[in-house]
Amino acid sequence: MKPIAIRSNIYFVGAVDWDRRLFDNLVPLPDGTSYNAFLVKGSEKTALIDTVDFHMSDVLFEYLKDVDRIDYVIANHGEQDHSGTLPKVLEKYPKAKVFLTPKAKGIFIDLLHIPGEKFVTVEDGETLSLGDKTLQFIHAPWVHWPETMFTYLKEDKVLFSGDFLGSHIATNELFVKDEARTYEAAKRYYSEIMAPFAGQIKKNLEKIKDLDIAIVAPTHGQLYDRPEFIIDAYRHWVYDDPKNLVLIPYISMHGSTKVMVDYLVEALTEKGIEVSLFNLSAGIVDIGKLAMVLMDAATVVIGTPTVLTGPHPNIAYGAFLMNALRPKVKFLSIIGSYGWGTKAVDVIKGLIPNLRKAEILDPVICKGLPREDDLKALESLAETIFQKHKESGFA
Ligand code: FEO
Repeated sequence: MKPIAIRSNIYFVGAVDWDRRLFDNLVPLPDGTSYNAFLVKGSEKTALIDTVDFHMSDVLFEYLKDVDRIDYVIANHGEQDHSGTLPKVLEKYPKAKVFLTPKAKGIFIDLLHIPGEKFVTVEDGETLSLGDKTLQFIHAPWVHWPETMFTYLKEDKVLFSGDFLGSHIATNELFVKDEARTYEAAKRYYSEIMAPFAGQIKKNLEKIKDLDIAIVAPTHGQLYDRPEFIIDAYRHWVYDDPKNLVLIPYISMHGSTKVMVDYLVEALTEKGIEVSLFNLSAGIVDIGKLAMVLMDAATVVIGTPTVLTGPHPNIAYGAFLMNALRPKVKFLSIIGSYGWGTKAVDVIKGLIPNLRKAEILDPVICKGLPREDDLKALESLAETIFQKHKESGFA
């Protein structure tokens, strides 16, 4: 296997993981993923930019089998899917120095037990000459860890963006060809990984806005030779208002909560509001898809039965996850049925402190099978959502 040339003396040496179906034992990967690493050969020095997940280190070393010398390893991000093979790289190239942000150094030592003297910390904007090629380091924290940076190859205008602007796609097409497919995958990835750091994403987009970029080379998925495609998409995702859309994550045990959910869906549909329903029963839900809808939804209505006075545990999990993703949701409500007693609403409210800016609309909780009054309350909730969306300019 030969390194794949991207431009003159710039090579892809990463690993495509066609089979991986779960990331962090949490995030579904319907299309697999890749761990992108790059070799940059200057007239004087050679740099490896990032490595690959340890379980695919053989792929990286196959690409590097004829590479006698690596002078520098650029470590844009400490997470093990990119740093995991670094110790083995340093075994093969013991003279190589690792360039990273000051914050990254401790992370790398903790995660990989690499001796501190291997590292060279770089300041924001600092450059490193490879001879006829120059690397510039751009501190870009919280992509999606605190230590992250980008590396810009000045002469060739390549931005090695780490996890930023990436997507989880396994493919042998190195550059994006089908933008619609990549858009979907990149949006899923953004929703799962980047969205909680929206404030920092805005700053990082600002930081690169004046760079002349010919290629964006992230650590996951395909490379972009039309960088504005992904940069504009990020701008939309981070700045746009939520949509006239209600997300309803729900679960039902004996059908009563489902009756309420169905009724609410019908009432919202009659008012022209888009609804996205996610049944959180074990093994059914695709949380990546849920995260994507969550990013767009103006309102979330959680539907839960009561289990031992609290919400159904799967709903508690969904609420916890939603809270962690810090969506732009503006309105929130809870509906559901209980048999003999409930504190489900209070428990759910306690699980979503990050959504405290969202206005809580009156919950509709009923005992047993919903009666006429309960259905009227759902009708009223639908009307309130309609009015709120209209007042906010979402409808
Ligand atoms: Fe792809 Fe944050 O590691």
